[in-house]
Amino acid sequence: ERLPDFLRGLPKAELHIHIEGSLEPELIFAMAERNQVALAYPDVASLRAAYAFSDLQSFLDIYYAGASVLLTEADFFDMAWAYFLRAKADNILHSELFFDPQTHTARGVPMATVIDGLRRACDRAQIELGVRAELILCFLRHLSEEDALATYEEARPHRGKFIGVGLDSSEVGHPPEKFARVFAQARKDGLRAVAHAGEEGPPAYIWSALDVLKAERIDHGVQALRDPALVKRLAEEGVPLTVCPLSNIKLCVFKTLAEHNLRALLDAGLIATVNSDDPAYFGGYLNQNFLETFDALGLDASHAATLARNSFNASFASAAQKRDDL
Ligand code: ADE
Ligand code: ZN
Repeated sequence: ERLPDFLRGLPKAELHIHIEGSLEPELIFAMAERNQVALAYPDVASLRAAYAFSDLQSFLDIYYAGASVLLTEADFFDMAWAYFLRAKADNILHSELFFDPQTHTARGVPMATVIDGLRRACDRAQIELGVRAELILCFLRHLSEEDALATYEEARPHRGKFIGVGLDSSEVGHPPEKFARVFAQARKDGLRAVAHAGEEGPPAYIWSALDVLKAERIDHGVQALRDPALVKRLAEEGVPLTVCPLSNIKLCVFKTLAEHNLRALLDAGLIATVNSDDPAYFGGYLNQNFLETFDALGLDASHAATLARNSFNASFASAAQKRDDL
C-alpha cells in the first residue's frame, strides 16, 4: 500500500482544532447574507486572497472578523457540522473542538446559543457519522483574567456540555500565569486543562502552563526544543504536544515544512500529535497535514502509527465517557 493511502485511511483523533477556524469563506458569505452582517471583502475570492499571514496576530485579526457572521444556534451547528463531514472523510474517530466564547458573547450572542449549537452538532456527529466529539472552552489570552472569570461563570451552568478549558489567541506578552485563578476554578469543577504555549512564545510559557495552569497537554509546544531541561520534563511526564504543521508554516513559525521540527520532537521522545488548528485558513484539514508533512520530512508508516496512537492516548476520550455516568 502506498504511504499516502495508508495515511488517509489511518484512524485518528484530532485534538487541536478551533471550530471557528474551520469556517470556510463560502460559509462566511452565506451566513453574512442570512444574518445581514457586513463584511470587509466583496466576495469569496477576495477574502481567500487575504489569507496571507506574517505571524499569529495577522491571522487572528482576520479570523475574528470571519467569526463575526456567527449569530444563531443554527450558525454554530452548521459550522461544526461542516467540520464533522470533513473529519469523517479524514477518518477522524474522535475530535476535541476548541471554541472561543468571548469572540461571540462580546457581540451580544448568548453563551447558551454558542454552546448548544456546537453541542447539538457533536451529538449528531456521534450518532450519524460515528465521530465522537467533545468541546473545550478556550479563554482569549489577550483579554483580562477578569473577563475570563466572568466568561467562565456564564459557561458554568453548561459545564456538562464541555470537558475542559484551554487558552488561545495572542501569545507573546500574555503568559499562562495571567490565568491562574480561572484555571484553578475550572479544575476544581472537574474540567480538564490544556493551553497553547510555545507556538511563538518562549519555553518559559510552557513551564508556566504546566506548573501554574496544570495543563495536561500543550497546544503547539514546538518552541520546547530550545530548552533541554523542558524537553526532559515533557518526556519524563509524558505530556502530549498537539502540533499543527501547516499552521506553523502559514504563520511563519518555520519557513518551510522541511524545516519543521516534528521529527525532532518525536526523536526526543515527546508524545507529539498532528492537528489542523484552523483548517479553513491554513490550507488543509487533518489528512492534508499528514500528507504534506510526511512528504516534506520523509516520515514513514511507523511514524504514522506512532502519531495515530499518540492522538488517541493523548485524548480525553475515556474521561469523556466517564462524564456520562455523572
Ligand atoms: N486561535 C485560533 N488559532 C490559534 C492559534 N494557532 N494560536 C493561538 N490562538 C489561536
Ligand atoms: Zn490553536
